[in-house]
Amino acid sequence: MVVAILAIFPLFILGSMVNVSFTNGLAISLVEDGSSEGGSTIGMMYHISGEFAIRWMTAVLSLTPFYILFGVNKLFVRQAMGISTALWSFLHFIIFLIAEGMLETFTQVNYIAGFIAVLILIPLFLTSNRKSMKKLRSKWKKLQSLAYLAIILSLLHVVLLEKTWAIYAVIVGIGFVIRIPIVKKKLIGFRKGRKPLRVVGRQ
Ligand code: HEM
Repeated sequence: MVVAILAIFPLFILGSMVNVSFTNGLAISLVEDGSSEGGSTIGMMYHISGEFAIRWMTAVLSLTPFYILFGVNKLFVRQAMGISTALWSFLHFIIFLIAEGMLETFTQVNYIAGFIAVLILIPLFLTSNRKSMKKLRSKWKKLQSLAYLAIILSLLHVVLLEKTWAIYAVIVGIGFVIRIPIVKKKLIGFRKGRKPLRVVGRQ
C-alpha cells in the first residue's frame, strides 16, 4: 500500500504539467512554465520520471542486501517495488517517444543504454508474479538477475547525461559488496549470532 502511494503520487505532478482539451476534439499540450527551476516543462517531465525510475530501481536492488543485514524480506513489497520501477521507466521512455520520436533513441549512446535497460525491464515486469515464479522455477532467478544489467545500463545513461548518479552508484555498489558470498555469509552469521535484546521489566 505504501509502495503504491509513493509510486502513484508523482503522477499527479506530471499530470499537472499536461493540458487536455476537448473543445476541438481531443488536444493534449504541455503547460508553459511547468518547471519551477526555470527549465522547460518537458525537461521537468524527463527529470521527474527519470529520477523516480532510478530511485525505484535502486530501492528494489537494495532489498536483498537489506534482507542479508536485517533478515526482513516481503515478497509482495519486492513485487510492488519491481512494478513501480518498470512503470516509471516505461513512462520516462513514453514521454521521450512522444516528445522526440523513436528514431531519436538511437542517436546517442546514453539513450541506447537507457533503451536496452527498458527492454530488459519488459520480461522482468511480465514475470514478476507468483505464477511465473512457479512456472519458470530456477530460470526465474536467472531472468531476474538481469536487473543488475539494467541498473548498470541505467547508471551509464545518467552518468553520460552528467546528471545526479553518484548516490545511486554508491548504494548499488554497497549492495553488490554485501552480496559477495563470503561477506554475505559473515553478515548473516553475525546477525544470527547476535543475542536477542533483554527486555528489562518488573522482577
Ligand atoms: C529509451 C530509454 C530512455 C531514453 C530515451 C531516456 C531519455 C532521457 C532524456 C531525454 C533525459 C533528459 C536529459 C536532459 O535533461 O538533458 C533523461 C534523463 C534521465 N533519465 Fe532517461 N531515458 C531512458 C531510459 C532511462 C532509464 C531506464 C532510467 C532509469 C531507470 C533513466 C533515468 C534517467 C535519469 C535519472 C535522468 C536524469 C533526470 C534529471 O535529473 O534531470 N532513463 N533520460
